[in-house]
Order: sequence, then C-alpha cells, then structure tokens
Amino acid sequence: MISNDPIDPMLGNYELVTLRGGVRSIRSVIHGETMHVGTDPRTEALELHVGQQEIVKRALEYRVTQPASPFIIWDIGLGPAANAISAMTALRDASQTRRENGDVEPAPSVEIHSFEISTEVLEFALSHAGALGYLSGWESTVADLLLHGRVEVDPSILWTLHRGDFSRESHEAPSPNAIFHDPYSPTRNPEMWSLETFASEWKVVEDREDRKSGPCILTNYTRSTAVRVTMLLAGWFVGKGVPTGEKTETTIAANRIELLEAPLGGEWLSRVRSSTNASPIRGRNYERGPIAPEDYAKLCKLPQFA
Ligand SMILES: C[S@@+](CC[C@H](N)C(=O)[O-])C[C@H]1O[C@@H](n2cnc3c(N)ncnc32)[C@H](O)[C@@H]1O
Repeated sequence: MISNDPIDPMLGNYELVTLRGGVRSIRSVIHGETMHVGTDPRTEALELHVGQQEIVKRALEYRVTQPASPFIIWDIGLGPAANAISAMTALRDASQTRRENGDVEPAPSVEIHSFEISTEVLEFALSHAGALGYLSGWESTVADLLLHGRVEVDPSILWTLHRGDFSRESHEAPSPNAIFHDPYSPTRNPEMWSLETFASEWKVVEDREDRKSGPCILTNYTRSTAVRVTMLLAGWFVGKGVPTGEKTETTIAANRIELLEAPLGGEWLSRVRSSTNASPIRGRNYERGPIAPEDYAKLCKLPQFA
C-alpha cells in the first residue's frame, strides 16, 4: 500500500512515500508516521476539513452576517500545508466561479492562521512540490510565507504563520470559526491532544471577554475514545465525523451542538465506561487506561448528555 520511494533520497527527517494509486505523501522518519495515510493529501484535506466543514459556504454566509469581520481558520499543525492550500484553492475556485456567473459581490474575507513547531517539513515539501502535486503553483506563496510569516494570497485571503509549540503558547490569533486540528497521532504527539490543549482552543473560542463567540467547528482524523473524552471534558460538543481514506469514522467538534449532524449520544457514553482506552489525555504523557469514576461522572453531567 505504501512504499518508500526508491528514486527519492532522504532529506533530513522526512521522506517521500508513494501511496496506493501512485500519489505521493510525506513520512516523518522521527515520528514514524505517514501524513494523510490511506488517501492522498488533497483528498483527505477536502473530505475531512474543507468539505465536512463546508468552508466555502460558511465563509460566504459569514460575509453576509458579519460583513466587517473576516472568516477565521486555524490550521493547527501546518506540516506540508495540504489542508491550508486545499482550503485556499477551494475558496479561490468558488470566487472565480461566482465571478464567471456574474456575481459582483466581493469574495468573503478569509484569514488562515497556521500553527507549526518546525517548518522543516514544509521546506521539504516545497523542494518536492512537483511530486506532491497539490503544491504546484503555490511555490512562491509558500516561500513568501516562510520568509515573511504572512502573505496576501489574493485580496480576500490572508495567510499567517505562527511558529512555536502550540501546546505551550497563549494564542494571540483572532478567535476561529474553523479549526483544522491535525498534529501527529495522540501516541506520538500527546501534548497536542491533551485536556490543556483542547481547553485552550475552547477558551479562545468560547470564553471570550466580549462574550460574542461565533460558531466554530473543529475537525480531526481520529475516532479514539480517549481523545473524544478529552475534547468533551475540555468543553466541546463532539460528534462522529466523516470517513476518509482507510478511516471509517473521524471526529468533529463544535461550540454549539446544533452544528453537529451526529453528536455522540447515550449509547457511546455507556460504552465509554467499559473501554480500555477512555482515560482523558492530560499533560504530555498518553497513558491508555479506563476512565476514572470521577471523570466519568463529569462526562455524564455535560450538557451534551443531559
Ligand atoms: C500530520 S502533520 C500535519 C499535516 C498538515 N496539516 C497538512 O495539511 O499537510 C503534523 C504537524 O504538526 C506539527 N506539530 C506537532 N506538534 C506541534 C506543536 N506542539 N505545535 C505546533 N505544531 C506541531 C508537526 O511539526 C507536523 O508538521
């Protein structure tokens, strides 16, 4: 299914791999993980984040309901930028189609805030843009982002890079309407799936001084019970997400339950109690285990299960 590319030399900590169907992706040698496994980077980005979150439709609606505010996307774990580029491409294509159809309204104003601890993988991807496909045509934009930390992709899209450890920073970026939560797996990258990290995202969305939180949706590729329990205890409403690649189910969360098509319900909650991997992830260590009675009691009292 995945083969290491025999013609591509290793460059530092990353290598190109060939996925089923011949498309290329990137493998982190240190983390031992291939990004976007089971499908190609663009398809996963479109299915899991851009399509499931209806980014184009929601950005258009936002332009009408909040004409003075940009629609804000947080892209957590920029990596080789497949999610960010797929979102920007969808937004640009939609603007072009509307213009061709005679729509004279300006395109929705969108800001993409990408967070990344190390841009080494993006630099690797840039030097293999042709092989990776989705990056073709984006080389100079990505180079500008790396150089200046901010790039005006077109008059309606601003892309900003926030360097640093997301799990340790206090977040200065404007409160998001959409979060693409895409670090490595909880086993390899536990601090990015911890109660503290999901609570910090919740705080910036919901616990704002002006109390004017807008709707926000967060998508990610896992269906782990431990991660879902962690997100719920951090304040999020959590539901079943769309399938993508080899995954039959993923996870979607939101700050309002009505944004979820399939919120987790009583049946899921009763299975949590007998799961061997339902303990919320705290701090920087991921220890699999059953949920403690006090955590289960907290879970049962959440508005989602009331
Ligand atoms: C699976 S890759 C992301 C793939 C990417 N979203 C895309 O669309 O191509 C995970 C990324 O998360 C980044 N990451 C891991 N821990 C992080 C942290 N604590 N803060 C910020 N970025 C982190 C990694 O460096 C890596 O680039």
